[in-house]
Amino acid sequence: MDLKVTIFHSLNGLFPKKKLDCRRSERDYSIWEYTSGPDNYGIYRDYITLENNIVLDLGCGLGGKTVYYAQQGVDFIVGLDIDELHIKAARQLSLEKNAQNISLVIGDAQHLPFKGDVFNIVLMNNVFEHITNPKSKKALNEVKTILKERGRACIDFSPWSAKRAAHTAEYFRIPWCHLLFSDRTLLKALGEMNPKARFGKLSYEEHFRELNKMAIDDFREMIEELNLRVIHFAVKSVEKKDFLIKLPFVGKYFVDIIVCVLEK
Ligand SMILES: C[S@@+](CC[C@H](N)C(=O)[O-])C[C@H]1O[C@@H](n2cnc3c(N)ncnc32)[C@H](O)[C@@H]1O
Repeated sequence: MDLKVTIFHSLNGLFPKKKLDCRRSERDYSIWEYTSGPDNYGIYRDYITLENNIVLDLGCGLGGKTVYYAQQGVDFIVGLDIDELHIKAARQLSLEKNAQNISLVIGDAQHLPFKGDVFNIVLMNNVFEHITNPKSKKALNEVKTILKERGRACIDFSPWSAKRAAHTAEYFRIPWCHLLFSDRTLLKALGEMNPKARFGKLSYEEHFRELNKMAIDDFREMIEELNLRVIHFAVKSVEKKDFLIKLPFVGKYFVDIIVCVLEK
C-alpha cells in the first residue's frame, strides 16, 4: 500500500465528479470543439480577422475549431495535428459540415511540411502545453518561418501553475493536484482508477506524461527571444476571477490561460 496514493484517493473523493459529455466519443469531442470555436476566435477578434486569409490551425485536434474557422470566410485553412486519429475525426466532421477551402493533415509542429512563408495567421489553441521539449523553440521557430511578413500567431494554453493544468479532470479532481503530488503518485493513482478511454492515440497516462509543464515566466522569456513583435500578452482566469491573478506571490496559481499574439 502506498500512503501517498491512498491520501490522493481520499482527497480526490472529496471533490465532485466531473462528467465530461464531450469525452463520450470522438464525434462528441469534435462537436464540442466546433461549438467552442466562436469563443476561441472571440479572444483574438481585436487582433486578427480570418476572412480572406490563409490560416494554419496548428495542433487542430479533432478539427472542430478548424471547421468553424473555415466557415468564417478564410481563403484557405490547414488543420495540422500529430495524431492521425484526430485528423481522421477532423476529416469526418469537415465532410459532415461541408466545410470548404480546408485541408486536414497529419504533421508535427516541430517539423512543419510547408515551404516558405505561406500563412497570414497561425492559431495554436490549447496546444503549446503538449509540445515536447518546447524550450528548444523548434515549434515557435517553425511558426516564424511559415508566417508571411506582418502575419500573426495566436497562442493560448494553460501554464503549469493553473488549477487544472494536469488535464484529465474526470480523474484528477483535486485542484492543483499536479503541484501537490508527485508525477509518480498521480500516475499510480490514475492507473488504479483504470481509465479505459483514450484521447486519440494516447492513453490518459500518456496524455499526462506528454504535458511539458511550461511556466508563465519561461514562456514569456521564450517569446521575447524569438524576435517577433509581441502584439498582445495576457494572463486570464476563465472563471472571471482576474482580481486573484493580481495577488502577490500566489497570483500565478489563478491564471487559467495565457493568451498571446505575435507578429512577424
Ligand atoms: C488539447 S488538443 C487541442 C485541440 C484544438 N486545437 C482545440 O483547441 O480544441 C492538443 C492537440 O495538440 C496535438 N499535438 C501535440 N503535440 C503536437 C505536435 N508536436 N504537432 C502537432 N500537434 C500536436 C495533439 O495531438 C492534440 O490534438
